[in-house]
Amino acid sequence: MAHALDEMSHADLLAGRIVELDGEPNFSPDGLAARSHAEYVEGDSLASMIMENLIAERIAIESYHEAIFCLGDQDPTTRRVLEEILARAAQHAENLVTLIKVIKDCRGSISQLRAAVCSPAHRPAAEQSISCAGAP
Ligand SMILES: [Fe+2]
Repeated sequence: MAHALDEMSHADLLAGRIVELDGEPNFSPDGLAARSHAEYVEGDSLASMIMENLIAERIAIESYHEAIFCLGDQDPTTRRVLEEILARAAQHAENLVTLIKVIKDCRGSISQLRAAVCSPAHRPAAEQSISCAGAP
């Protein structure tokens, strides 16, 4: 859930920057899907869903690196926005790798997985303030 909120905030940051540059953000679902660098792949298990998410996150990281490289010093404000999003995407990828390790440790048990994911030992410091309400 925290990742989803982060992704929405990234979209808001980018849309805000597009507006600042006198552009008009295109939120059309078809347009978003067509312009996406990653494709949507539905996993058939929790582990495969997380793995697909990790693949998409790494594609996004590569895309942000390319965009930052292409911008160079031409637009420092946009560059800072992209660097901020890139840093969060890298954190997301690290979190997903941790989740995959936790799943392997828990051998697929959802209740063990929830307990382990909600354990501070398995969460990066930045996310340890997130509530795990509802976890068994
Ligand atoms: Fe992300």
